[in-house]
Amino acid sequence: MPEPVLQIDDLSISFALGGADVDVVRGLSVSVEKGRTLAVVGESGSGKTITGRSIMRLLPPAASARGSIRVAGREMLTADERALRRIRGADVAMVFQDSLSALSPYLSIGAQIVQAVRLHDSSVSRRAALARAVEMLDRVGIPNPADSARRYPHEFSGGMRQRAVIAMALVNRPALLIADEPTTALDVTVQAQILALLRGLQDEYGMAMLLISHDFGVVASAADDVLVLYAGREAEYGTLRDIFERPAHPYTAGLRAATPRLDAEGERARLRAIPGVPTSLRDAGAGCAFAPRCAFAARLDGRCETELPAPTVRGARTDGLHRAACHLDRLPDLQEAAR
Ligand SMILES: Nc1ncnc2c1ncn2[C@@H]1O[C@H](COP(=O)(O)OP(=O)(O)O)[C@@H](O)[C@H]1O
Ligand code: SF4
Ligand SMILES: [Mg+2]
Repeated sequence: MPEPVLQIDDLSISFALGGADVDVVRGLSVSVEKGRTLAVVGESGSGKTITGRSIMRLLPPAASARGSIRVAGREMLTADERALRRIRGADVAMVFQDSLSALSPYLSIGAQIVQAVRLHDSSVSRRAALARAVEMLDRVGIPNPADSARRYPHEFSGGMRQRAVIAMALVNRPALLIADEPTTALDVTVQAQILALLRGLQDEYGMAMLLISHDFGVVASAADDVLVLYAGREAEYGTLRDIFERPAHPYTAGLRAATPRLDAEGERARLRAIPGVPTSLRDAGAGCAFAPRCAFAARLDGRCETELPAPTVRGARTDGLHRAACHLDRLPDLQEAAR
């Protein structure tokens, strides 16, 4: 079997805070194959962005990562700057949530894409790079691409800017795209268009994609596989169907119940939040970080508060790829929980 495009093994990320190292991500292991989309979903602060940035080796100076991250077979955590420059762009590129801060206000959109091409391969002439930029702008659905390439970011709408950022990320045809909340700042109609665009380009290029989102609705419409993060750890991992149809972790079940049904007729169903405050790994004790919010913790005689649940295999599939980190063998009905 070919090596996955992305292979993460036992990844932990910590910040040096006030003289002590504090983990914000712990023990993540996951892989993404060519042409597949892995969604990383979780509440704000659960460690999604920092995980995405660690794959690019774009961590803040106070942060450090341990474990292994292999992109197209190459170890990112020990690669030197020269190797990183080569890997970024050709093997992996990232689209950030905020398209305005991802672009320089002082350069035309075309010039920025030309820069991305030539940073990766300095043998490409400016002219050839511009031709590729215009072609890519066309490909992401920007009207009058040759003319648009001469425009500046502030002359674009939010949706068009995000398209330009996607063009910049994809111009070197990376094997892996990391998209961090790529549609969060956009209205619902544009969100759907951008997600459809990403899916289309992914199919065409055979890219692997890591789609980061706090929005289960976005995940439902775009993912093949799903990693649910809670307080920096894997809560559950499985295919989209595992996660939606047979969740095994109470947090996943709560997220699903809180997701407005996008197919609901008429009015959009109201979003219900999961009660309680998200815990960070920093505040988590020895047990399960979800215990203070979990409707089932009381049934397990204190085990949840004292013993960390390790991810264990669930369900009937034989590949063992549906995992949940919970002491319950079987998730009771949510209605049952309310009784
Ligand atoms: N520059 C930083 N310094 C200290 N802690 C940080 C920094 N950036 C992120 N963190 C911490 O790392 C955790 C994960 O953050 P992040 O990956 O941004 O979460 P998410 O993207 O899921 O909202 C949070 O607890 C956050 O407080
Ligand atoms: S281990 Fe306990 S607290 Fe954690 S999710 Fe499972 S039942 Fe709830
Ligand atoms: Mg984030």
